[in-house]
Amino acid sequence: MHNFTHYTPTKVVFGKDTQFQTASEIKEFGGSKVFVVYGGGSVVRSGLLDAITNNLQENGLEYQVKGGVHPNPRLSFAREAVKESIEFGTDFVLAVGGGSVIDTAKAVAHGTANPDVDIWEFWERKKTLTRSLPVGVVLTISAAGSEMSNSAVLTNTEIGRKRGLSTDLNRPKFAIMNPELTYTLPKYQIGCGVVDIMMHTLDRYFTHTKGNRLTDEIAESVLRTVIDSGKVAIKEPADYDAMSEIMWCGSISHNGMTGLGAETDFAPHQLGHELSAMFDVAHGASLSAIWGSWAMYSYKEEPARFARYAEKVWGITADTEEEAAVKAIEATVDYFQSLDMPVNFTTLGIGVQSAEVLEKLADSCSYDRGRTIGSFRVCDRDDILEIYKMANC
Ligand code: NZQ
Ligand code: ZN
Repeated sequence: MHNFTHYTPTKVVFGKDTQFQTASEIKEFGGSKVFVVYGGGSVVRSGLLDAITNNLQENGLEYQVKGGVHPNPRLSFAREAVKESIEFGTDFVLAVGGGSVIDTAKAVAHGTANPDVDIWEFWERKKTLTRSLPVGVVLTISAAGSEMSNSAVLTNTEIGRKRGLSTDLNRPKFAIMNPELTYTLPKYQIGCGVVDIMMHTLDRYFTHTKGNRLTDEIAESVLRTVIDSGKVAIKEPADYDAMSEIMWCGSISHNGMTGLGAETDFAPHQLGHELSAMFDVAHGASLSAIWGSWAMYSYKEEPARFARYAEKVWGITADTEEEAAVKAIEATVDYFQSLDMPVNFTTLGIGVQSAEVLEKLADSCSYDRGRTIGSFRVCDRDDILEIYKMANC
């Protein structure tokens, strides 16, 4: 087990009707002028936004709303929101939505606290973030885990790049998590969420670090739970228990718990981000489309690790570790398909791509040969290209 620091300061308020505690939580964390961020309209249609703004008003909190966050949230929108937030005099940012809304809210908090800096400079590591505003979350989709995570992902459409920023200043102060708020999700988004939760866990689980029993068993339990609950939820999105399990798995999968004390990989996430940047596909779909190819390319680095995954998560054993590994990869891909999730470029809806496009994806993912990705299987630009080729069918 490696040394680690575990810092997960987000207060979780979980369960039915918890959205009505929003104002009291904001007050507890010192907010009085609240900048409310939401997405493309699902929270307007469900009545959640009205419920939240009424709750703020009844509790004497001033607020201003900013809707219109696009999935794969854009830097240009965040910059616009920062301007409005500064003019309003925001002292607390509230996200009502999913990962895209939360990540935009984090960007607004950083930009408002640093009015002289263009926020992209933080994402490009040209400036170090040293202060921000508090952020609270009312979660409406279980997927990205941004409600407890230390990261925020933005897409700069001017240069076609999707990038994450990791800092403890990205950790929200509180997360209100009422599984009932996810009942209105389309099945496609439930599938995307289940995949993303599995990937946050697997991108940590596939590691060569040894001696991490508790971390491994937490990860395996998250995987079994989200896989089983996903099967129920995709048929019955209003199943409270299934949606509750998925919601809690979503937070645990990405708040650090599933990878403590071990080196993490995250290559599939990097490969997926390029697909979202170029084709604007949903994050979870980008991951299921690439994961099987990454896994087949990488498992030989340590078949025993995949064999453990086979046994503990899928109940699969075989004569050899290699055989078990391949069976587990197939079981995972079959599961994605059972959720109607894509498993290659055709099912992702982008079609088979030209050699030129694949080269572009590999250049961008490797920062023009300026970095490698992953640690379980360290992938340079040529490895990245091979994996994209495998998924290109
Ligand atoms: O925009 P609205 O109208 O709200 O619709 C959204 C959106 O179309 C819809 N939705 C959300 N809650 C709903 C709902 N529809 C009906 N009923 C509800 N209750 O779902 C769609 C997707 O929303 P989005 O916020 O994009 O989903 P998700 O939570 O998957 O977030 C994805 C983004 O988060 C980033 C991804 O890269 C992507 O940009 N990630 C952020 C991470 C982090 N900050 O820690 C880690 C992740 O790995 C990921 O990279
Ligand atoms: Zn993710």
